[in-house]
Amino acid sequence: MTQQIESTDAMMMMRRALAGSVGVVMTMGALHEGHLSLVEAARRENEHVIATIFVNPTQFNSGDDFTNYPRTLERDIDLLARAGVDFVFTPTAAQMYPPRYQTHVEVEIVSAGLEGESRPGHFRGVSTVVTKLLNLTQPTRAYFGQKDAQQVVVIRQMVRDLSVPTEIVVCPTEREIDGLAMSSRNVRLSVPHREAAGVIFRALRTAAQRYDAGERHPVALRDTALTVLASEPLAEVDYVALCDPRTLFGVHDRTDDPMLMLVAVMIGGVRLIDNALLPWSLNERAALSLHLGVSG
Ligand code: PAF
Repeated sequence: MTQQIESTDAMMMMRRALAGSVGVVMTMGALHEGHLSLVEAARRENEHVIATIFVNPTQFNSGDDFTNYPRTLERDIDLLARAGVDFVFTPTAAQMYPPRYQTHVEVEIVSAGLEGESRPGHFRGVSTVVTKLLNLTQPTRAYFGQKDAQQVVVIRQMVRDLSVPTEIVVCPTEREIDGLAMSSRNVRLSVPHREAAGVIFRALRTAAQRYDAGERHPVALRDTALTVLASEPLAEVDYVALCDPRTLFGVHDRTDDPMLMLVAVMIGGVRLIDNALLPWSLNERAALSLHLGVSG
């Protein structure tokens, strides 16, 4: 039986009553197979599973993006119940940010570039809400998807720096048949824009193939991805970056160390992000947990 918990007090009370390991999957709802794969892993590896659904206003840097974010609460709770989640925590914004709220968590360096540059304040909102959700649910393990690679790096850094006693587990990106990374934002794409969005995966794959064929220069790999993206007139590139997957520092010289290629593209007014570790063989769970962000 899945139980819905709506208040922070009830969540803390319920957590205190739980013995044994607890896995948490944090979401903003509008669930898809990507979220369900995180739930599946949490189910396998813990005695209890908590999923959270909270569209966190502080991580959106445009009011429109927050307003237009898909909200499908009833369907989400139903999916989570069928996936075997024990508790669904659905707090309100007033519960999470009561009047005179004034505390924020800022992870300085890894939050600054890429998404942090394009969406100022985004990671401050993410780090703060994730800290609150970790405190409220006190999980043994928390599960996050590779799709939001920079978010993973930020959260792992924060957990390490603040000595949070939770293991952060990174699960591979779930993809549609054409390779598009599953995302709650995909439902906002019109049919032609959805078709065009397949170019993002083709760009990552083509660069990875070039890597596997021996190319190690980040400039050449980036140019390869940019050429593929340029073949799709509906795609407007925000960035294509080659970074060190632990620190997110840009890689500018040839190297045999693993690299993280990150892409952000606007298609039909929807901002889509994706990434891949190079070599491609590292995009699986054991390798992700080793290479993405601080280890341990
Ligand atoms: O990845 C997300 O859906 C959100 O950023 C998270 C981690 C649930 C925090 O609001």
